[in-house]
Amino acid sequence: MTTPVLITGTSSGIGRATAARFARRQGFTVYATARRLDTIADLEKAGARLLALDVNDEQSMADAVDSILTEHGSVGVLVNNAGFGQYGTIEETDLNGVRRQFETNVFGMARLTQLVLPTMRAAGRGRIINVGSMGGRLVFPGGGYYHASKYAVEALTDALRFETAPFGIKVSLIEPGLIRTAFGETAANTLSDAAFPSGPYDRLNMAVDQQMASSYQSKFLSAPPEAVAAAIERAATAARPRTRYVVTPAAKALVHTRRLLGARTFDAYLRMQFR
Ligand SMILES: NC(=O)c1ccc[n+]([C@@H]2O[C@H](COP(=O)([O-])OP(=O)(O)OC[C@H]3O[C@@H](n4cnc5c(N)ncnc54)[C@H](OP(=O)(O)O)[C@@H]3O)[C@@H](O)[C@H]2O)c1
Repeated sequence: MTTPVLITGTSSGIGRATAARFARRQGFTVYATARRLDTIADLEKAGARLLALDVNDEQSMADAVDSILTEHGSVGVLVNNAGFGQYGTIEETDLNGVRRQFETNVFGMARLTQLVLPTMRAAGRGRIINVGSMGGRLVFPGGGYYHASKYAVEALTDALRFETAPFGIKVSLIEPGLIRTAFGETAANTLSDAAFPSGPYDRLNMAVDQQMASSYQSKFLSAPPEAVAAAIERAATAARPRTRYVVTPAAKALVHTRRLLGARTFDAYLRMQFR
């Protein structure tokens, strides 16, 4: 009997690396999911089962969960990973983009969690692993809406962990720092869409763009998606998983620094980074 692992957003980056990692491991049946199945065909060759799943589409979520329940009775591990960053200043960013982001990063995660919980509770076991971000613990300028979605993930995960513990369900939050995936490029694209060709925040937007590009290029500041997949595997297999896994040494240092510094001192630190 294997443990079924359902992972969202496996067409690239962290989700893909996580699906590949679980597919190599004994004892798990990996359900790799994506909006477009053609983007994950190679994961089937690696041993994963494929399901179409768009976290903005109720029916596709229900269908994917149903096919796992038919075979296994309940989902063993749910990895809520699908997400993207809507960048841009608070004033300039189109709220439709912000709504789409919350639909994906927050409501998609919440709804899929609701769909797996009844059978997890009945089974008396299961794990839910939410991919948040170090950006749920601190805020960079130009990323306010993205950070807001990840702060929401922090709150939901904390409540969920407490509420479901009596049913034998273990909940962990993964807090990656800068990870070399398609995320940076998507975020840069949303930033250039949000920013007016010429507006009051031009200099800030340019600084945010440059800061993102150089940080993601830095091997010192960033890490490959496999580092996050390894943390997700630990959360899925440890007898007593941690509540939070901060991934990358730089992210650990930043989260720690933010905790120690007051808001104004952290602003001063950011002003040096975003000149
Ligand atoms: N990379 C980082 O620096 C970083 C840092 C902290 C946290 N994170 C978080 O890590 C998670 C994964 O991001 P990543 O870095 O691996 O970026 P990525 O390479 O861009 O992957 C994002 C994945 O989410 C999927 N996705 C987006 N909208 C979806 C939807 N409506 N339904 C289903 N799947 C959807 C994408 O699928 P499509 O191909 O269909 O778009 C893609 O597979 C996100 O939650 C992100 O916020 C990333």
